[in-house]
Amino acid sequence: MIEQAGRVMSSPYMQWAKTHLQARFNLASSGLLNYPLSKLPVKVEDLELSGASYYGFEPLQKALAAKSDVPTEQVVAATGTSMANHLVMAALIEPGDEVLIEHPTYELLISTAQYLGAEVKRFSRPQENGFQIDLDEVARAVTTRTRLIVITNLHNPTSALTDEETLKRLGEIARRVSAHVLVDEVYLEALFDDAPRSAFHLGEEFVTTNSLTKVYGLSGLRCGWILARPELAKKLWHLNDLFGVIPAHSAERLSCIALEHLGEIGGYARHLLETNRELLNAFYATRDDLDFVPHRFGTVSFPRLKRGRVDELCRLLVEKYETSITPGRFFEMPQHFRIGIGCETAMLKEGLERLNRALEEQG
Ligand SMILES: Cc1ncc(COP(=O)(O)O)c(C=O)c1O
Repeated sequence: MIEQAGRVMSSPYMQWAKTHLQARFNLASSGLLNYPLSKLPVKVEDLELSGASYYGFEPLQKALAAKSDVPTEQVVAATGTSMANHLVMAALIEPGDEVLIEHPTYELLISTAQYLGAEVKRFSRPQENGFQIDLDEVARAVTTRTRLIVITNLHNPTSALTDEETLKRLGEIARRVSAHVLVDEVYLEALFDDAPRSAFHLGEEFVTTNSLTKVYGLSGLRCGWILARPELAKKLWHLNDLFGVIPAHSAERLSCIALEHLGEIGGYARHLLETNRELLNAFYATRDDLDFVPHRFGTVSFPRLKRGRVDELCRLLVEKYETSITPGRFFEMPQHFRIGIGCETAMLKEGLERLNRALEEQG
């Protein structure tokens, strides 16, 4: 990890992800396989290279606001959930502030908070409890210096769902110390028609982030957004002037088209995930060397290897079986690994078969 004057300046996980997702059987990705441009009904007249995009592109702002059921002034467009998370943290954290982050979590949330000079504290999401949030532990960890509580919903790496009741109680804990709750909801839409409303609707302390990247396989659009109260939203827009200023306009236009067709894109994703989930659960049923929570929704699963070393398993898988999974060390749980099920069904089937063989070989 690169540091400068004691400050985190890089993400080991992102470096690994960018260089290890090319395996022939890729079960390491957390999103859906790429949705091709050829399947979007795009006419060249719909596109333009530059246009009236300043504090958002109005048609996109309107589409995101309608989708999220909020007024447009509560939507801040961002370059993916990545920049959305960065902006929220940069706007809400001062160096030395305490930030409380779930464990395990998506590594970038930790490194971004550390880069911004936060003092990061953790609360656990134990497997014995289905990786649910332990509110008592959060209440004990919060102090008057806590400015932000951070969770992912669905949870990365486990896909656990945090229900509204728990979210509301998390909001109450934050309110007591005038902190915000950042809920990264990039996987929430993997519940499709059953998806609950955004946590943003649950109270003033909530800020949420999202994008079309994961569940719709539309990473290349970098269409992310933040839901925030108007005053914070304004601060976020102005802070973004110091970073990306404006996004690629053609991507904004394509995002509008994708949002118009999200029903079809989501229908395809839902079908794929349902089929693949059955394969994953059938695989789990054959393995007594894995501790797992049966997969119910979402795009990823996080089993624990009962015997042997995960890093060794990952090496064997890549070198002999051309298959990649994500080592649990990137989630600070080295006996676990993450499997993504958003790939083509044939790839998942073959990848699981190869994982089976590698597990047998490792004994
Ligand atoms: C929880 C979480 N948030 C954000 C991201 C990044 O999303 P985006 O591609 O929209 O920037 C990821 C990617 O893996 C993620 O797992």
